[in-house]
Amino acid sequence: MTFSAPGDGQFAVPVSPDSQGDPRDMSETVFTPNADTTRQFRDALGCFGTGVTVVTAQSDQGPLGMTANSFSSVSLDPPLVLWAPAKSSRRYASFAKAQHFAIHVMGEDQDAMARHFARAGDGFDAFDWSRSEAGVPILAGCLARFECHLAALHDAGDHAIIVGHVDRAAFRPGKGLIFKQGQYGGFSEKG
Ligand SMILES: Cc1cc2nc3c(=O)[nH]c(=O)nc-3n(C[C@H](O)[C@H](O)[C@H](O)COP(=O)(O)O)c2cc1C
Repeated sequence: MTFSAPGDGQFAVPVSPDSQGDPRDMSETVFTPNADTTRQFRDALGCFGTGVTVVTAQSDQGPLGMTANSFSSVSLDPPLVLWAPAKSSRRYASFAKAQHFAIHVMGEDQDAMARHFARAGDGFDAFDWSRSEAGVPILAGCLARFECHLAALHDAGDHAIIVGHVDRAAFRPGKGLIFKQGQYGGFSEKG
């Protein structure tokens, strides 16, 4: 797998065996996560490349979205997934009380949508969207979608873990948008 940043044509993270070298030759930052090492903790976590999702729900103010990479599959039977909103987000209260929500997996070409819903929770009219039977805003054209009802909400430090029971799912062919070390990119198979 190589990871490339779209647009500027630069490799964000060359990961061919040659370029990785011997890990013992590299300087390693070792730290205890605490209030003084937040930057390092973020940097260490950022080494884990993820897909990118946009979670949507109907709020009292209207359709609400949030870009999230904390998404994870949890269980096949029953069908459960999770994501983790930060309590510090102005959108937290709306997502925490939503009984229904949808998780949209971004396709490789959907970084504009991901950037939008990282900046703002509203502005759906810039995109093609509709509503599910449960009244949840559904964004068109995503790589996959999981329409959920709330199964559980767990306290988790400065985040909550929201577990969704998947009532309906969809997917299309295509490559996914990747997020790693603070950059969006794409996926290409190792030759
Ligand atoms: C790639 C990416 C992934 C993100 N993942 C999460 C996440 O899993 N949980 C979360 O609370 N915020 C996440 N964020 C931040 C939110 O998208 C958004 O920026 C944040 O809620 C802004 O706070 P506000 O609602 O107060 O404006 C992510 C941002 C980016 C760019």
